[in-house]
Amino acid sequence: MELYNLKLLVLMIITCSFVVSSQGKLRVGFYNKSCPDAEAIIRGVVREASISDENSAPGLLRLHFHDCFVEGCDGSILIDNGLETDERHSSGHQGVRGFDVVERAKALLEGVCPGTVSCSDIVALAARDAVFLTKGPWYEAETGRRDGMVSNVRLADNLPDVGDSIHKLKAKFIEKGLNEKDLVILSAAHTIGTTACFFLGQRLYNFPAGGGADPSINPDFLPELKLTCPQKGDVNVRVALDRGSEQTFDAQILQNIRSGFAVLQSDATLYQDVATRRVVDSYFELLSPFLGPSFEADFATSMVKMGRIGVLTGSKGTIRRVCSSFS
Ligand code: HEM
Ligand SMILES: *[C@@H]1O[C@H](CO)[C@@H](O)[C@H](O)[C@H]1NC(C)=O
Repeated sequence: MELYNLKLLVLMIITCSFVVSSQGKLRVGFYNKSCPDAEAIIRGVVREASISDENSAPGLLRLHFHDCFVEGCDGSILIDNGLETDERHSSGHQGVRGFDVVERAKALLEGVCPGTVSCSDIVALAARDAVFLTKGPWYEAETGRRDGMVSNVRLADNLPDVGDSIHKLKAKFIEKGLNEKDLVILSAAHTIGTTACFFLGQRLYNFPAGGGADPSINPDFLPELKLTCPQKGDVNVRVALDRGSEQTFDAQILQNIRSGFAVLQSDATLYQDVATRRVVDSYFELLSPFLGPSFEADFATSMVKMGRIGVLTGSKGTIRRVCSSFS
């Protein structure tokens, strides 16, 4: 009898918490009814943008990461009040692009279904489309995020940094509910896009251990990097993050990381730690093509996970009319 009551109680608690949590949950196709063309409209804008500018897709993929890592995936990075205190001015967000593409999609969406599609969902869907447009995997992206009401540059102080140790990188990801496999797989987003030489200065000329170049850079690669990014040269010159394959979303970046061709120090460091190295290697074992993990499927899984960080759903947050503005 008592055992029966206990079971009933547990069942009730589970049911209640399910009802409460499902009120504000992300789901695939959140706009199916309220704005059936939302995903197609966003895809069209992203496609057009990437035809006219090859930097567009990588920019949008990075934008989603930077949105999610500060205050959750809530569109806070998009706010532009013209104040120095706006989150987007954080040094950690340096070089982030794609704001114009998001705003263009938002304007079209406001024309068809006003006040319905959140800016944070536009960012998440645009990142998904960017991956697919560069020949990466297609995946169903969850939607139903609402936009945040806070933009504060100080909140972006703790973003992962190229110079972070592997322990620090792991800790910053774990804090967001992402494990070391997610860290490796999401860093592989560097399979597309470029970096400013600005982020390589330390690694090429002032590496902490010894003061010269990072010894983990392949000796065949070092002169090439130094030529593109000379010590006192223009820090705005850009270098492909995935040498030889920067336009295509594929596992080549992980192969480059294995062979000392990583461009960013944070990517190289993934191969200097037992656990993250094991993850990188798992995609290249003898039988990997048949029995091993799928880079594409794993990337999709980790992206969905990243897209859930600190989201506002249900009655929390708001739907902005203009992504750069609270009003
Ligand atoms: C692990 C920590 C990470 C660090 C330290 C890092 C750092 C950087 C840096 C310094 C750049 C060059 C920025 C520029 O000069 O414009 C960059 C570019 C990029 N990052 Fe990351 N990143 C990390 C993780 C991620 C994640 C998780 C994603 C997405 C899932 C991502 C996607 C990208 C993309 C696509 C680019 C190219 C952007 C472009 O071409 O405009 N990164 N990253
Ligand atoms: C929306 O439509 C897609 C595709 O038909 C389906 O997979 C998804 O479950 C639907 N979602 C909702 C919330 O109705």
